[in-house]
Amino acid sequence: MKKLWAGRFKDKTSKAAESFTESVSFDYRLWKHDIVGSIAHAKMLGKQGIITREEANRLTATLENIAADIAAGTFVFRRDLEDIHMNIEHALISKLGDTGRKLHTARSRNDQVALDLRLYLRSEIDETISLIKRFQKSLLDAASKHLDAVMPGYTHLQRAQPVLLAHHLLAYVEMLQRDAERMKKARASANQLPLGACALAGTTLPIDRRYVADLLQFDGIARNSIDAVSDRDFAIEFVSASALLMMHLSRIAEELVLWSTTEFNFIELPDAFTTGSSIMPQKKNPDVAELIRGKTGRVYGNLMALLTLMKALPLSYNRDMQEDKIPIFDTVDTIKSCLTVLGKMFPAITFHVERMRETAGDAYSTATDLAEYLVRKGVAFRRAHEVTGKIVRYALSSRKRLDELSLKELRRFSPSIASDVFRYLDADASIKNKLSSGGTGPDEVKKQIRRLKKTVDSHR
Ligand code: ARG
Repeated sequence: MKKLWAGRFKDKTSKAAESFTESVSFDYRLWKHDIVGSIAHAKMLGKQGIITREEANRLTATLENIAADIAAGTFVFRRDLEDIHMNIEHALISKLGDTGRKLHTARSRNDQVALDLRLYLRSEIDETISLIKRFQKSLLDAASKHLDAVMPGYTHLQRAQPVLLAHHLLAYVEMLQRDAERMKKARASANQLPLGACALAGTTLPIDRRYVADLLQFDGIARNSIDAVSDRDFAIEFVSASALLMMHLSRIAEELVLWSTTEFNFIELPDAFTTGSSIMPQKKNPDVAELIRGKTGRVYGNLMALLTLMKALPLSYNRDMQEDKIPIFDTVDTIKSCLTVLGKMFPAITFHVERMRETAGDAYSTATDLAEYLVRKGVAFRRAHEVTGKIVRYALSSRKRLDELSLKELRRFSPSIASDVFRYLDADASIKNKLSSGGTGPDEVKKQIRRLKKTVDSHR
């Protein structure tokens, strides 16, 4: 197959070089965006009189036919044609002859590939945002359904203070909200038109970049043609936002693994999203959650791959940049599959709210409430902390919970303690008495659910 750029070459490309440099085996995924971009370019060439309107129409119609062939699976991708761009252009030329040869006027693969990648990421980011939103909704549903469920909150993985299960779940909704915002920022970075930069210097032909930007719904045009073909910041921003998203998903996944252990027994994972053991008949393993945790590493790796790929590259386009595709595609596939499976699994989780409540008041988790009780009685907080610590030590040695100590025992540690203290020592009271905004008090949590439901509905 004669290369479209064969003019200045005497010898044929070696097979080894050909298979080493080809990218169509993976960048075929950009086909839809390549066609859409080419159609906009053809229309602009026609409008500007660089080609005739008639030629522009024929290019557009034929590109649409090629798209239909690719969608139907009848298009043959040829590795000797290097990449998706050349494969499509070659098909166009086979169908239209010299008219087909006019499409690439005032365009280079350098600005073309940058365009395709931006269009691709724009649409994948939109899908990612709706998957994030769907998962946020299932977290919010679970929170609304279990408004009264009290669980132990942890620091250092030691029981710390009682919290509402809903409050814990809302923490994840907040993280995901930041992820969605970061995705939107990455989308805005991607949403600048690089086309018209041509190879790197622009063109002598009278193109209209604004018109192309409008056709393709870009917010603006990349202002510097050298930067336009050299820039992959938008892709790195997307993968970086994805790395943070995966970090959050891995924390949720880890808690699902932990909470489903016999030791915790806070939840039961649905059969449909767990797997059995090939030898131990009793096992029900949280593999989906574990794989989400594990796949986080791939996305971190992809981020590092892209940063390292772009490091110290001289301006402008370098073929190295073809290596951006695989980490970008892999990131898209990974985050979408993780969000999808988690979104399906989460609503089917059973929460063992009784077990959570039983453990919530253990381990002296209301000691801080006792210290704050003393503060309200006029004791300085550091003193109150010390007194309460001593009470805990005493209770531990006499194998009692805080609310099992008598008033007489308690008063031995501080004369400020009165009989009303017992209103503050159990887990439910601890939660009910929380006043601060952003805290785990029931009214505050309800307010946060209402606010987050609105926020989640409002972002695209
Ligand atoms: N397949 C190439 C890529 O993905 C397209 C750009 C090729 N440009 C070039 N000057 N060889 O980066």
